[in-house]
Amino acid sequence: MTLGDLVPSLRTSLNARLEPNLWPLTARADCAGELTLAGVSVGHLAALHGTPTYLLDTEHVRDRCRRYRAALPGTEVIYAGKAFLCTGMARLVAEEGLGLDVSSAGELAVARAAGFPAERIVLHGNVKTAEDLKAATTAGVGRVVIDSTDEIDQLAALTRHRQDVLIRIAPDIDAGTHRAVTTGTADQKFGFRVADGTAADAVRRVLEQPRLRLVGLHCHLGSQISSVAPYERAAERMIGLYAELGRRHRITFDQLNLGGGHGIRYTDADRALDLAAYAERVPAALRAACAAHRVPPPRLSVEPGRAIVGGAGIALYRVAVVKRRPGGRTFVAVDGGMSDNPRPALYGSRYPVRVIGRPLRAAYRPVTVVGRHCEAGDVLAEVPLPEDIHPGDLLAVPAAGAYQYSMASNYNMVGRPPVVAVADGASHPLLRRESEADLLAREVCE
Ligand code: LLP
Repeated sequence: MTLGDLVPSLRTSLNARLEPNLWPLTARADCAGELTLAGVSVGHLAALHGTPTYLLDTEHVRDRCRRYRAALPGTEVIYAGKAFLCTGMARLVAEEGLGLDVSSAGELAVARAAGFPAERIVLHGNVKTAEDLKAATTAGVGRVVIDSTDEIDQLAALTRHRQDVLIRIAPDIDAGTHRAVTTGTADQKFGFRVADGTAADAVRRVLEQPRLRLVGLHCHLGSQISSVAPYERAAERMIGLYAELGRRHRITFDQLNLGGGHGIRYTDADRALDLAAYAERVPAALRAACAAHRVPPPRLSVEPGRAIVGGAGIALYRVAVVKRRPGGRTFVAVDGGMSDNPRPALYGSRYPVRVIGRPLRAAYRPVTVVGRHCEAGDVLAEVPLPEDIHPGDLLAVPAAGAYQYSMASNYNMVGRPPVVAVADGASHPLLRRESEADLLAREVCE
């Protein structure tokens, strides 16, 4: 039961309250149920661009980039493009001085189209096809993170210049993340393991290739991590490895990339990774480990994706159908769903949902917000909504900036939504809505 249920007169004033740290920086709500982003009415944006639509608060993205750079001076901040990438986003990140992690020739093509400086690009991936490696060497990307033995020879054969590389390590650290995004343990597909000697073998193979220059090691523990401790452990373990490999091969490593995975808040119950605590404790753990092992401190890199863009996004849906089942659930069906946000179906992710654009006086009752797709599992959220919710109502979902648009599909031949940047009282689309002509464009007619 909420405060609004107990004291109905409080409901309208509660409309003006946005859950702290869940909504983009420039989002504001008022008692009339209006939501604005960067001074623009979100209801107006829905009318202008249609629904479903993704809104991106670019001031929020810039603020996150700046906070990372300010908190971690001397550390390289590399944005993980898989969270959300288009040329507009790549330009923004480039302007803010971050690097860019790409994990396919496609992501690299977007980065290049945006004019992203190639030397600040890092190529990732447990599978890098010949096309991926060719595209990377042609573009002259700064670094390639080697993830398999075969890749070493392939990359060496392709590159015409001396290519800087890192080797990805599975440091055998479980950061307690959802199983589908746990990548630091030994029993998963990414990187080389230490205990079975394959990491040391990869280092030896890279050192044998005159066209490759080994600048450091990389690890990525997983995603949506809210505690600093696993990163401290990773820093210590990786420096232990630097000491051991350094002694064996008489080398030093210039860089250490500790990956991303920094958690954000999706609901009031979530805890975000504390950036200030990370910035204080992880470089300190690194320095202490370097001193203990007598190795020169490498330059640290971090690769946040979600923590840069996740909080900057709002997903907008229009209610299409409401089914009130006496004695059963109320289903509020919207015009999007698992095709634009597969996260609830994939990871059981939870989101708050807000009715916007009208005063909310009715009591809140639990409902199931579902999508338009042909599966019972197409559920976006289980939340309380006003009991007078009806078709035509506009719904806003926060924390929608990461891994929603980037994982969107055309399931049921539904076109992907537009992504609209909002800043300084104005909006401009970064990506337009996918049309039926787009959906038919790849058909090969006989
Ligand atoms: N670096 C590497 C090598 C990665 O694989 C990833 C994410 C990142 C950095 C950035 O992680 P972030 O800071 O954004 O957590 N689809 C899932 C998340 C998959 C993450 C994949 N790798 C989700 O929606 O939660």
